[in-house]
Amino acid sequence: MSSMLFTPYEVRGVRFRNRIVMSPMCMYSCEKRDGKVTPWHITHYASRAAGGVGLIVLEATAVVPEGRISNEDLGVWSDEHISGLRDVADACRAAGARIGIQLAHAGRKSRADGRIVGPSAVPFDGTYRTPEEMSERDIAEAVAAFRDGVVRAKAAGFDVVEIHAAHGYLLNEFLSPLANRRTDGYGGSRENRFRMLGETILAVRAAWDGPLFVRLSLNEYAEGGNATEDFVYFAREAKALGADLIDCSSGGVVPARVEAYPGYQVPYAETIRREADIAVGAVGLIEEPAFAEHLIRAGRADLVFLGRELLRNPYWPQHAAKALKAELPIPKQYERGWT
Ligand SMILES: Cc1cc2nc3c(=O)[nH]c(=O)nc-3n(C[C@H](O)[C@H](O)[C@H](O)COP(=O)(O)O)c2cc1C
Repeated sequence: MSSMLFTPYEVRGVRFRNRIVMSPMCMYSCEKRDGKVTPWHITHYASRAAGGVGLIVLEATAVVPEGRISNEDLGVWSDEHISGLRDVADACRAAGARIGIQLAHAGRKSRADGRIVGPSAVPFDGTYRTPEEMSERDIAEAVAAFRDGVVRAKAAGFDVVEIHAAHGYLLNEFLSPLANRRTDGYGGSRENRFRMLGETILAVRAAWDGPLFVRLSLNEYAEGGNATEDFVYFAREAKALGADLIDCSSGGVVPARVEAYPGYQVPYAETIRREADIAVGAVGLIEEPAFAEHLIRAGRADLVFLGRELLRNPYWPQHAAKALKAELPIPKQYERGWT
């Protein structure tokens, strides 16, 4: 039986050579605190591309300086970021991978210099600053910053855009009643809590006709947080506005202990795929090739996202192909003398 993990995946005319995705992971490597790509980023991402990953999603890349998680995060808030981002995209594509970027705003979880903002003046916990409650004008500016970010990502040649609306960062803060205490049109009902993400998807879509993913946290692990029906609503709305895939993560809105085990977030992906009728990515301690294969074959996910396992082993796809007796061509540069 041939592997399904190694079958290509196509979305909006963009073809990934297989279903393996490198999950976005911050590298905290902009030592000059300017959000610009460094040699580390190129080495790091391109080596996973050479290892055979189908799609690489760049780490949370801030759409405004105060939207960085740390001062060392990548940024896309100015045209000066485009050439470095193009270098990473080109290096990955030269090794056969498609390349995506995760556009992000850290909201109240920013530890970078500058103003800290959120839906409400409620800090994440005692170790974080208290955010300023965003005005409607602040919201409109943040939405416009996502749009400008996607215009720059397009100029840099990215194939896929992912909006980061998970892990308790700005867009997730608006979605969650645990962080959003507003009484205007951006808070209260789930329709209102979705409004900022909806406006962001629309703004991004107006500037981007390629594949669009949205990462959501599908369990808040706390009383009073969103429930399954809320998440299904968010995913359905995201799809209606033009999202192609929900990248199904969890947690991060409030401090909570999460018991993680292989595939612990897969049930959320299955629910969203079934109830919102949209493609999904599964993520979270997916390490065994046979398990990744099962997730695709059993229709539990369309793509598998790997994080730490790819940090340990950039050549995971090659090892997985061998284990699954699948075909994954090695980089052509390795072919001579490979007997
Ligand atoms: C070093 C590190 C940095 C991360 N940075 C991000 C990030 O920038 N954006 C994001 O959505 N998730 C981030 N994550 C979460 C991963 O994308 C992934 O969802 C998580 O690690 C679970 O998958 P894994 O068990 O395969 O590592 C990060 C994880 C790690 C380990």
